[in-house]
Amino acid sequence: MNLLFATSELFPLIKTGGLADVSQSLPLALRQAGVDVTLVLPAYRSVLAQLPAPLARLPVNDAFVPAETVVLEHSLPGSDLRLLLVQPGDLFDRDGGPYSDAKGLDWPDNADRFAQFCRVVVALLAGRCGAEHFAAGHFDVVHCNDWQTGLVPALLALEPVPVRSIFTIHNLAYQGLFPRATFDKLVLPVAWWHHERLEFYGNFSFLKAGIVYADAVTTVSPTYAHEILEEPLACGMGGLLQYHRHKLQGILNGVDYSLWNPAADPHLRFHYDVDSLPEKLHNKLDLQRSLGLRLGKSIPLLGVVSRLVYQKGADWIIECMQSLQGEKLQWVVLGTGDRQHEQQLLALARAVPKQIAVTIGYDEAMAHRIEAAADLFVMPSRYEPCGLNQIYSLRYGTLPLVRATGGLADTVTDCTDGFVYQGDTASDLEQCIRRAISYFSKSKTWEKMQRNAMGQRFDWQQSAQAYLALYQHRDSRN
Ligand code: ADP
Ligand code: GLC
Repeated sequence: MNLLFATSELFPLIKTGGLADVSQSLPLALRQAGVDVTLVLPAYRSVLAQLPAPLARLPVNDAFVPAETVVLEHSLPGSDLRLLLVQPGDLFDRDGGPYSDAKGLDWPDNADRFAQFCRVVVALLAGRCGAEHFAAGHFDVVHCNDWQTGLVPALLALEPVPVRSIFTIHNLAYQGLFPRATFDKLVLPVAWWHHERLEFYGNFSFLKAGIVYADAVTTVSPTYAHEILEEPLACGMGGLLQYHRHKLQGILNGVDYSLWNPAADPHLRFHYDVDSLPEKLHNKLDLQRSLGLRLGKSIPLLGVVSRLVYQKGADWIIECMQSLQGEKLQWVVLGTGDRQHEQQLLALARAVPKQIAVTIGYDEAMAHRIEAAADLFVMPSRYEPCGLNQIYSLRYGTLPLVRATGGLADTVTDCTDGFVYQGDTASDLEQCIRRAISYFSKSKTWEKMQRNAMGQRFDWQQSAQAYLALYQHRDSRN
């Protein structure tokens, strides 16, 4: 089976969140299961800078994309997976993030950038790009991820090729919403301006295009698949999703334990595993020392690695840091996001530097060090489609403290391998932190929970099989 996996992020080349991790680790697992996987990603400037010269430059024959559009053929570093980079003129050739500039503002031409990306993906599927490699019919399935790829299933429906399309929602709140003028500028079929097609309350939505036109729609945990049928987590799309419910399924993300393994993590000075658990403490002392926190094995260290946004409950974390100031506990925070949260966190760290350490920025090595050093990993998300950090935490014996939502509810069991709470306020979070800390003082129970956590496995094997079943499914339309 030939699969084209379309994504806007890919670890280790370009990452803002878990989509990048999934876009690397799921294709690798599919490959192991016998699928011939090709990855396709926009040719961001920063990605090109990390790669050698392309193996091939494939021209694109499509009237709607810029004449100079090419697809560059590479392989994913560290693997033999084929990686195609879509270069529609200079649309992805700029400094800054994949979706926004250095100030965090969305690129004003995002609709155009990702519409061109989608058009080229469809040209690849239809045999209009590098036809000697990828003739029409070469690919059996296209797997699209998030709104940036949402036009693929829709544009594919206009082509005479029997390619099955899967659309995965990693976050329903990011809908790729744009006004009518943009719709016209993209020269999309006029009939698509309809509430059963792409139109969404006076705008149009890339995400809706994926939901409406894909043969199957998935999201990244069973609980989130239920939650998005109703407000508030439906984000206005509850009716639409109810209508398409027959093709909607939640498949829990896996993680790549070759990258997240405390026994062999290259970012750690002190390695440990379930049978050498006391070694974990050295990572804690090492981090406390390097961040200027008070040294102490018995001070509970709470870790946060997160986008500092509303979804992640960053405001609740900040409130708890304030209300728990002076108590016997410490915080170590790594993240970027809303400027206001960043500033509040930095002010707290300045006020009590021995109790709170804050790093604003993106730092892969530090993320691993926090996972290894902390006692508790705090994730009070308002919603969480899956969440990967709590799964990494389990493997590191760093007990996750999570709000009962989405993938957090599906992966952590209260009092067994972490702490799970209900509620919608900072004081609910605070109570759970106090409860967890009362467990921390009972070292036998704590250690048992750590062992339970480290014994959990969420590898891709099972979930990759669920995707495989979807790829192979033949419905009446095929
Ligand atoms: P989301 O994709 O919603 O941000 P996930 O838990 O699925 O949440 O994935 C987040 C991923 O991004 C994890 O791999 C996490 O370690 C990483 N991450 C988030 N913020 C940072 C940061 N500031 N520095 C390094 N890694 C980060
Ligand atoms: C999104 C979600 C996160 C999920 C990730 C990968 O960023 O917010 O919960 O783990 O995608 O699927």
